[in-house]
Amino acid sequence: MSAQIIDGKQVASNVRAELKQRAAKLLEQGIRPGLAVIMVGDDSASEIYVRNKIKACGEIGIHSEVHHFSGSATQEEVLNCIRALNQNKHVHGILVQLPLPPHFENNSVITSIAIEKDVDGFHLYNVGALVTGNTNFAPCTPSGVMVMLEQHHIAVEGMHAVVVGRSNIVGKPMAMMLLGQGATVTICTSRTKDLAQFTRSADILVVATGRPKMITAGMVKPGAVVVDVGINRLPDGRLCGDVEYDTVKEVVGYITPVPGGVGPMTITMLLSNTILAAERAKYSKHSK
Ligand code: GUN
Repeated sequence: MSAQIIDGKQVASNVRAELKQRAAKLLEQGIRPGLAVIMVGDDSASEIYVRNKIKACGEIGIHSEVHHFSGSATQEEVLNCIRALNQNKHVHGILVQLPLPPHFENNSVITSIAIEKDVDGFHLYNVGALVTGNTNFAPCTPSGVMVMLEQHHIAVEGMHAVVVGRSNIVGKPMAMMLLGQGATVTICTSRTKDLAQFTRSADILVVATGRPKMITAGMVKPGAVVVDVGINRLPDGRLCGDVEYDTVKEVVGYITPVPGGVGPMTITMLLSNTILAAERAKYSKHSK
């Protein structure tokens, strides 16, 4: 039997409808949620991501602004911009689009963002908070995966979750979130020896390696939940994930497609974190 498709566009649309209401409520109280995006250089993929983020903000009533620096800007110039945004009461969320040029030190830049405005959840404080079960802001892509599982009533507790990929943006925080929900978690990489032995034992398999179609039907457990975070462009121009969708979907119980799976959730969770930041700012102002 073919798997149930986890439709990321549908889940994203459900979440965005709720966010729109929360944004409207804030606006009624005189607060327009605001997101500032910092971009350095002219990476073409980053330009597309930033454009999509700005468009999504507009659709649900979030003010957004882009601070675009040339690739030759100094780290100090960018830090000065972040320091000013930290003080700006119209800006509730600050995001530094990655990658930064090689002469930048990622952690120095990211840790200059005020913890309460770090809507990407990449600040070392927020990473530590997630690991210790005191989540402040969680990174957007793995948060989106958790919402997709929740909306499909997929129980995580007690399951064996295998995460393939160990990036700071997806793999590591994904593993921590699954662990936090009571899963037994194994973290693999694309180079894990006998990877199939691990993936075949997964009740929930999350793949984020950037290797097109590397997970094949023989590598999954019948009935498993498969979440594909990969977005790769094939030589013919089409997009595909890290999972061989057409064959794997005949074996597993649930699967996310590419495109239209995890992708739409990433920006949705950024909007969600921005609204949350604005709501918290309002609460902390009133409680002073
Ligand atoms: N570059 C690739 N993914 C991301 C992301 O989620 N956030 C930021 N800031 N940069 C990225």
